[in-house]
Amino acid sequence: MTYKIAVLPGDGVGPEVIEAAMIVLNEIALNAEYIYGDIGWEFWRKEGNPLPERTMELMHQTDCALFGAITSKPKDEAQKELAPELRGKGLEYYSPIVKLRQLFDLYANVRPAKAYPGNPLNYKDNINITIFRENTEGLYSGVEYYPVSKEIDEVFKENPRYKKFIGMDKAISLRIISRKGAERIIRAAFEYAKNNNLRNVTVVEKPNVLRETSGLFVRVAREIHKEYPNIEMWETNIDAQAMWLVKNPEKYDVLVTSNLFGDIISDLASQLVGGLGFAAAGNIGDNYAVFEPVHGSAPKYTGLYKVNPIATIRAVRMMLDYLGEHEKANRLETAIEEVVKEGKVRTYDMGGDASTLDMAKEIAKKYAEL
Ligand code: IPM
Ligand code: MN
Repeated sequence: MTYKIAVLPGDGVGPEVIEAAMIVLNEIALNAEYIYGDIGWEFWRKEGNPLPERTMELMHQTDCALFGAITSKPKDEAQKELAPELRGKGLEYYSPIVKLRQLFDLYANVRPAKAYPGNPLNYKDNINITIFRENTEGLYSGVEYYPVSKEIDEVFKENPRYKKFIGMDKAISLRIISRKGAERIIRAAFEYAKNNNLRNVTVVEKPNVLRETSGLFVRVAREIHKEYPNIEMWETNIDAQAMWLVKNPEKYDVLVTSNLFGDIISDLASQLVGGLGFAAAGNIGDNYAVFEPVHGSAPKYTGLYKVNPIATIRAVRMMLDYLGEHEKANRLETAIEEVVKEGKVRTYDMGGDASTLDMAKEIAKKYAEL
């Protein structure tokens, strides 16, 4: 079978890390057709849309996508960079990756944080945590108000505790947690733990304060946990969990949480195992998936071929697993492990001077030797 894979380099360092990933993919010789698509800042400026319709169509024709990085800027800066003929038409910049997650219903953002033996950047050895971040709702639901209309203010009349907000100059972002949304991410986390013989799943929320949203999330987790009696489930609060991840990260196998908490805690976890140069993510739904490095477009490094491509190469590894190519995925993982352990080729973040492509070539070479 020939896979069809959409390749979306984006901007900033996106194209260079994708170039690195393609060196590795060519060595792997996956039976696949790679189709490049337009996405990112350049298309916002020229077309007023960072995610053109043709790219969406391309994605619909493929099995999954490999995505690099894109720049996002605050509202007013984005408007200033828009082509003159497109200004004043009410066009608004949005984050293409957040939109893709929503449009393709890629509800599971899977973010492994694994300490590769011999990585000089490891905070501690024996860290191997996989974070399941809900990816379509929570504080990323996109339901926001400013200014807040009188109709919406009506809602504040229903409870005496809300009254003080009526008529205030205020902004509102809704944190929506649905039962379905909670169920599917929590189930994905438990299934992953079960399939990989892991011991524990930690539900990270804040139900003591966010009584309704976190409350629902935790209640759903307790229900689902009953189906997995051999896996331990712990409930923690996001603030305390941030501390415990620094204190004893070895303890945790799987974390599952809502969207923004997962965003924050996964950056924290990545720093325990080498930082964003090592952090990959799979955005996975029932019908499609997008794989990406967690780092952004890193404008200050653009074109320098300095950044560590391991994040993107690990995203490739996750993509291989998604496609069912487990043998190739495991072999690639071993190649990365070996290259890190040998320590001959190291990018700047690891204290070396190897370029993005040197690292990719070394991993490709190792893959070929295995
Ligand atoms: C991430 C990023 C994105 C997010 C940004 C770029 C919108 O930080 O993938 O973690 O907040 O989800
Ligand atoms: Mn993030």
